[in-house]
Amino acid sequence: MERKIAILGASGYTGGELLRLIATHPQMRVAALAAERNAGRRVGEVFAHLAHLGLPDLVKTEAVDFADIDLAFLALPHGVSHALVRRIPAHVKVVDLSADFRLRDPEAYRRWYGQEHGAPDLQHEAAFGIPELYRDRIARARIVANSGCYVATSLLALVPPLRAGALAPEGIVIDAKSGVSGAGRALKEAMLYCEVNEGFAAYGLAGHRHMGELDQELSLAAGAPVQASFTPHLVPMSRGMMATIYACGDAARVHCALADIYKDEPFVSVLPPGEVPQTRHVRASNRCHIGVVADRAPGRVILVSVLDNLVKGASGQALQCANIMLGLEETAGLTLAPVFP
Ligand SMILES: NC(=O)c1ccc[n+]([C@@H]2O[C@H](COP(=O)([O-])OP(=O)(O)OC[C@H]3O[C@@H](n4cnc5c(N)ncnc54)[C@H](OP(=O)(O)O)[C@@H]3O)[C@@H](O)[C@H]2O)c1
Repeated sequence: MERKIAILGASGYTGGELLRLIATHPQMRVAALAAERNAGRRVGEVFAHLAHLGLPDLVKTEAVDFADIDLAFLALPHGVSHALVRRIPAHVKVVDLSADFRLRDPEAYRRWYGQEHGAPDLQHEAAFGIPELYRDRIARARIVANSGCYVATSLLALVPPLRAGALAPEGIVIDAKSGVSGAGRALKEAMLYCEVNEGFAAYGLAGHRHMGELDQELSLAAGAPVQASFTPHLVPMSRGMMATIYACGDAARVHCALADIYKDEPFVSVLPPGEVPQTRHVRASNRCHIGVVADRAPGRVILVSVLDNLVKGASGQALQCANIMLGLEETAGLTLAPVFP
C-alpha cells in the first residue's frame, strides 16, 4: 500500500535530500511540500536537479492538508517543530530532523536552546532516531527525533562499547569535522565561499549545542554520567562528516563490541582492526563506516567514524526511521551505493 508523505522545510538541504531519496522509494508518494520564504514556488525553481520528478509545489506550512498524510518529515530549524507539532493530527506519524525532540528534559532544552519547549509532554514520548541503537522504540513511536549529524557519527561508534563496558565513561574526546552543508542552506556570512574555502576552523568549543544530546545518550549507554569533550570543525567540502574519538579501553574489546552489534546491519560497517575509514567512501549514501585503532599509549583506543551528514546524518536516517515506523522494508529508498570519486 502506498504511504502519503508530507515534508515541511522541503526547500532546505535535508528536505532536498529527502526528495532525492524518496524518488527511489517503491511505497512512498510525496503528497505535500511546505517551505517558508520559498512557499509558492515549484520544486524545480529551488532544486533544478529535482525538476523532473513531478512533485507538488511548495506551500506555506499552514496550507498543508494532513487529512490523507501518513507521515510528515519536519526538516525545519530548531525552535519551529516544537511549536508546530500540536497542529499535526494524531494519525500522522512525525520524524523531526531538528533538535526539538531530542532532549527529554525541558530544562536541558531551555539551557541548550535558550527557549521554553512548546510541547514538553511530547519530549518524553519521542524516540531517539538512530535505528541501529533504538529500533524497537522507533517502531512504536508516533514522534521520532532524528539525531544530529555529529551525534549520529559519534554515538554509532561509542554506544556499543560503552554498553558492553569495553570503554571507560571518563576521558572521552570527540574531535569532529563537518562539510559546509551541515549548516543548512539559509544565508549566513560565516558560510560564504571566501569564509570557508581553503581554511579549517574549530567552533562551538566547550559549548556546542549537540553536547546536550551527547551527554544524554552517552550517559544512558554507560549507566553513569558522561561528559565527553566535543569539538566540531568546519571543513571546506560540501558534504561529509568524521569523528575521531579518543577514549580509554582495549582496542580488541572495543572492536569486538562494535563488530558484534553491527554484523547484520545493512548500513553500518566496522572495518578490520587497524583500518581507517574516509568520508569519500560513504558520500551520498546512508552508510556509516567505523575504524578502531589501538593507540600507542597502553589502554587507549582511537575510533574513527564517518558518514554523509545529509544522508546517514540526516535525511537517510530519517527515511530509515520512517520505514520502521510505517512497517516498511527498512532499507527501501536507501540502497544506493556511495558516489565515488
Ligand atoms: N544540514 C545537515 O547536515 C543537518 C544534519 C542533521 C540535522 N539537521 C537539522 O535538520 C533541520 C533542517 O536542516 P537543513 O540543513 O535542511 O536547513 P535549511 O537548509 O536551512 O532548511 C530549512 C527549511 O526550513 C524552512 N523554514 C525555515 N524557517 C521556517 C519557519 N519558521 N516555518 C516553516 N518553515 C521554515 C526553510 O524554508 P525556506 O528556505 O523556504 O525559508 C527550509 O525549507 C535543522 O534543524 C538542522 O539542524 C541538518
